[in-house]
Amino acid sequence: MKTTTAYLRVIGFMVLAFFLLELIVDSGETWAIVKYPIIWAVLGMVLLIAIALEIIAAALQRILFSGLSPEVKENFLAAEKVREENRFGWFKRKYEEMLGAKPMEKEQEIVLDHNYDGIRELDNKLPPWWVYMFYATIIFAVVYLLRFEVFDGYTQIDEYQTDVAQANEDVAEFKKNNKDLIDAETVEQLTDPADIAAGKTIYTDNCVACHKDSGGGGIGPNLTDDQWILGGGIKNIYHSISEGGRAGKGMIAWKTDLKPSEMAQVASYVMTLHGTNPADGKEPEGEIWTDGNTPVEVNEMTVDSTQINIEATNNSVSDNIESGN
Ligand code: HEC
Repeated sequence: MKTTTAYLRVIGFMVLAFFLLELIVDSGETWAIVKYPIIWAVLGMVLLIAIALEIIAAALQRILFSGLSPEVKENFLAAEKVREENRFGWFKRKYEEMLGAKPMEKEQEIVLDHNYDGIRELDNKLPPWWVYMFYATIIFAVVYLLRFEVFDGYTQIDEYQTDVAQANEDVAEFKKNNKDLIDAETVEQLTDPADIAAGKTIYTDNCVACHKDSGGGGIGPNLTDDQWILGGGIKNIYHSISEGGRAGKGMIAWKTDLKPSEMAQVASYVMTLHGTNPADGKEPEGEIWTDGNTPVEVNEMTVDSTQINIEATNNSVSDNIESGN
């Protein structure tokens, strides 16, 4: 029993140390122990100290004990035994009080006077734990009624809306931190001026050679009109940029050069070119795109000799850009 209490003391000490550390170390929304793994080391030290203290205390007790005279020893052991027994006495008493059961020897007092074939009944009182809980539900009901029916508490609809608002915030936060976690299915048109500006830079660096500064088109099709060969709308445009055009046409798959976030930016920039109607615009190609159409299936570009040619063209084009032609 003595060693058990020593263990319990050490565990209690550790739990206390843990919560104290969580309380004083500011770690934002995560647990301090997750954010600062050094806390494991601190807790390890605390554990060592706690064990050392227990060992020292036990050794001291043993030394003092061995120096006692025999009858004092006996008294000490007897007193120790009583202490052990009383240790959980308070809990035990409270527990029995809450059960409210009549002890067996007093059952005679509450036996009812009917008797069915020898089966008799005890008139037990309701156990206090049950009664107190019942009172608690009554108090709860009154408070609830006043709060939500008499005074204007929040409704389930309010609760729902708060949750949805919170969820939207979380989603926005997640998207902000995971900008590259998008594909043609999940991409959304970006409207932030910073994103559009970044998209414009990417466009100027990579796309003007074939689509012109204005988007009016040259080697590549006009990006400003209503007609799209591979489908309009942010998702199709993203898909065209990421996977490239039809084999042999000259539009490579940009997913090897650009990050998903960058493709989303340049796709969003392309969206802003729509309807600008540049003077040097190429003849429309493809079908008129209206939103709500199912996304156009684009053939996967096959890697063959044409692709190598395309890349060669692309390189010479960018060389031209660099040399200012
Ligand atoms: C080497 C020339 C070339 C370069 C560089 C180029 N494209 Fe293209 N692009 C094309 C061609 C050619 C097509 C038509 C593909 C087809 O018909 O399948 C095209 C098609 C497209 C389409 C689909 C148009 C439609 O009508 O469906 C988009 C969007 C597009 N390009 C955007 C871009 C962006 C953004 C860049 C820069 C990251 C870029 N392109 C760079 C040649 C190019």
